[in-house]
Amino acid sequence: MSLSHHLFLVSSFSTAFTTYCFNLGPRGIDPAACPTLHVPGVDSVALRDADVGVHYATPGTSHRLVVPPPISSRGLSSPDLSEVDWPAPSLAWEAFYPNGSINPAAAIPGGFGFYVAGPAAFSEKLAAGATHAVLSYRMMLQEGWEWVKGGKLPGIYGGEGDSSYACTGGRQEARSKCFNVRPMWRPKGQGELYTYLPLTDRNQQQLSAVPPYSTGNAQYGFSVGRNAFNFDVGRWITLAFRVKLNDVGSENGELELWVDGESVISVSGLTLRDSDKSRIKGAHFQTFFGGHEVDWASPKDQRAWFADLSGAIIE
Ligand SMILES: *[C@@H]1O[C@H](CO)[C@@H](O)[C@H](O)[C@H]1NC(C)=O
Repeated sequence: MSLSHHLFLVSSFSTAFTTYCFNLGPRGIDPAACPTLHVPGVDSVALRDADVGVHYATPGTSHRLVVPPPISSRGLSSPDLSEVDWPAPSLAWEAFYPNGSINPAAAIPGGFGFYVAGPAAFSEKLAAGATHAVLSYRMMLQEGWEWVKGGKLPGIYGGEGDSSYACTGGRQEARSKCFNVRPMWRPKGQGELYTYLPLTDRNQQQLSAVPPYSTGNAQYGFSVGRNAFNFDVGRWITLAFRVKLNDVGSENGELELWVDGESVISVSGLTLRDSDKSRIKGAHFQTFFGGHEVDWASPKDQRAWFADLSGAIIE
């Protein structure tokens, strides 16, 4: 079977996992119930914190495992494979964004934030120096979603040791020691990648050139490929990220984002590290409304669901 599945999209890999088979059955995992992903070498794991290496969760936020709602009737005619070849997740992490919430550290915390290393076999390969990997998941925004000005969604991160963490929020120091790439929604569901990469001239050039619109912000991150894709609400959307570390001293790193199996943003010629000690670390599972000013706040209680966390090591 080919791995041209929306979660993987790579033709060869050495170590891979998915929580796609995690369900409500007696054993929690039932590979027989998910034949489309019953591929040798893809380990089925549970979407449980300990099993997928969740750590450094932001205090005051939660990511409860819930049975997500059914997709909207409008969603049934979407291009997603949901409900036909590829059943909707039976369990998902729920993010709750209360009315008035901005980021997890604001007066009214919203969304959630934590880091995911993956199951042991996967995280050990990353720690041993894997240079090319894919991480993916499915997500659904609640029907009736209000976008306001924008918000963050889970992405990927890496770097040198503990410098890889908190590579966000306007960080200026040790920026060559980390990278952080999260999707953002913008008004009307426009999608982009919001990146913190080492601050090299070539990175600025390569990111600026991504169509249809990219812009740097001296204080914060770099908006890449705004409106290269659109988020839909009330149905499951698959996001898959590919990152290829540069060889130290060469500007040959790569980033790619697929949405529902379509490559929508692809950037090469990047520097993601300046040291052989820098690693791809896993997923930065963070989501909230913002920005950090009140005009970014959620205007009502809203929810989103995240499931089918998957990863594959290419090299
Ligand atoms: C959200 O909170 C604001 C400010 O307290 C309030 O005016 C508004 O009615 C609330 N919206 C909803 C949908 O409850």
